[in-house]
Amino acid sequence: MSSETKTPDKFTIINELARRRGFFWQSYEIYGGVSGFVTYGFLGAKLKQNIEKKLRELFVNKLRILEIESPVIAPSKVFEASGHVDHFKEPMVECQKCKRRFRADHLLQEFAKIGESEAEKLSLKELKEAIEKHEIRCPECGGTFGEPKYFLTMFKTAIGPYSEAVGYGRPEAAQGIFVEFRRLYDMAREKLPFGALQIGHALRNEISPRQGLIRLREFTIIDLEFFFDPEEPNCFLLKDVENETLRMVLAESKLRGSEEIVEVTVKEALEKSYIKAEWQAVFMALAKKLLVDLGVPAEKQRFIEKLPWERAHYALQSFDQEVYVERWGWVEVSGHAYRTDYDLKRHMQFSGADMRVFKEYEKPVETEQTVIKPLMAKLGPVFKEEAAKVAEVLSKADPEDVEASIKKNGYYMLGEYKILPEYVEIARQKVKERGKRFVPHVVEPSFGSDRMVQFALEYAYRVKDDRSVLSFPRDIAPIQVGVYPLVSKDGLPEKALQVYKMLLDEGFMVEYDEAGSIGRRYARADEIGIPLGITVDYETLKDNTVTIRDRDSWKQVRSGIEDLPELLHKYFRWKANFEDLGKPF
Ligand code: ATP
Ligand code: GLY
Repeated sequence: MSSETKTPDKFTIINELARRRGFFWQSYEIYGGVSGFVTYGFLGAKLKQNIEKKLRELFVNKLRILEIESPVIAPSKVFEASGHVDHFKEPMVECQKCKRRFRADHLLQEFAKIGESEAEKLSLKELKEAIEKHEIRCPECGGTFGEPKYFLTMFKTAIGPYSEAVGYGRPEAAQGIFVEFRRLYDMAREKLPFGALQIGHALRNEISPRQGLIRLREFTIIDLEFFFDPEEPNCFLLKDVENETLRMVLAESKLRGSEEIVEVTVKEALEKSYIKAEWQAVFMALAKKLLVDLGVPAEKQRFIEKLPWERAHYALQSFDQEVYVERWGWVEVSGHAYRTDYDLKRHMQFSGADMRVFKEYEKPVETEQTVIKPLMAKLGPVFKEEAAKVAEVLSKADPEDVEASIKKNGYYMLGEYKILPEYVEIARQKVKERGKRFVPHVVEPSFGSDRMVQFALEYAYRVKDDRSVLSFPRDIAPIQVGVYPLVSKDGLPEKALQVYKMLLDEGFMVEYDEAGSIGRRYARADEIGIPLGITVDYETLKDNTVTIRDRDSWKQVRSGIEDLPELLHKYFRWKANFEDLGKPF
């Protein structure tokens, strides 16, 4: 079969529909388009907002979550502290003929069917060998590849007209939360646990994005950082979700080369220590529910545990929530990482700001404490004018950490400063303590809005009688109700416009359409996923009733215009079924 006659797959159909009907399209089309950037039209933007609203309902409103907005660009110090400058890199190869560049590990996955985990583990040398062994050539021109190299996938810029003031576009929104921890803790009335969330653009200079909304260079990330006391790790929401099942692929199975799914309840996953942090297990259950609510059935979702070399540098344990899609197989929609106290500690080291919180004991206790005394006579000649700052930051560092590192490595890294044993005196002293200071731990669910849009579209897409229908769950549909005069004469448009205005005033997302035959208007509405169509006909002029049409069954019921607001509010809050909206017609 030639490629022209191949039946298009769902990914192609959805992207074509999205472009044609104005959900989204590649940005900068008039200049030929740029990969990895999309523009959402009205329908897509509304769909994305509705998805984010659902997430807020599930995660934000019920917990003590503070939603914030922080800048997209940060000074390089922030990403040096977070570890991204050292770690946020991907292996890349360049075609020697056409000079196009590709992710080396992705080429092996696509053309040598090497598993994602195996490909991610390979060093640059091993990547080169594997590419040669499998005789992988440039997918664009058939050329051979040069040496693999690491490419920093953060966008780099200069802040202001000073090229030395390096800044980076944030690859995650999380750092905007960590750097503000002290203020946020204050706003949370100095109580743990609490969470902070941000929904905003993230920038990643992906090497060769070719998967539409799934891999963008600018996308919307939803990072929720939930701070808790590791000595009080219990989650007060556990009871609500403990019997929810999770389909999990565990690290131990992956190490055996298997992707076997174990299905366990949240409670069992914790009892068996499959998931280390209770809060993380609860967020995973909520994430599953969110995707079900977006239309992705539970059996098309799984949580796959990351192996140590696949995990981000800050994570002690992490799971990817994945969704199965026709073209790409299992694709990550959210990452669930137990970030411990990694980020706050690093920012404490790099900035000198105290990120610890105070916890009062029930009664004071006498303990022996390690204290680190910076020796100015030694620091002065080495750090010169920075010596006072180094001493101050050092006095705030965790003495146990400093001592352990000096014992183990012979030095302690205080951000970029190397502290040698002779720069400090390590002493013990007896103290009566009222409480203690510690750095909170963090679990993080992190979602991609654009991938949720893609998956919601894929699972909404159906074909009925040769017609495309987007069967979105009713509460995420971009437009809720279409209002149509049966024909555009005899006073029907005027009456339909009255209904339209009434529903707008009631706060519904309504569309009015009088162009073309009623059948064509219904087909258009089905294709953009409008759940209900209200038609004004000649009966309406006599008895003030209208028909209400269901997008999915194409059934119709009849109801009085004055009853519409209450009926529709109930319907969109899932408090009424379609059959409850009127008499069969
Ligand atoms: P992948 O392995 O697919 O590159 P990741 O592990 O780098 O993803 P995270 O860093 O966990 O992804 O980011 C959190 C979420 O952001 C992901 O679950 C995904 O939904 C979304 N995301 C990540 N990268 C992109 C991208 N380039 N385009 C669109 N969404 C993305
Ligand atoms: N949150 C993804 C990363 O920064 O690695």
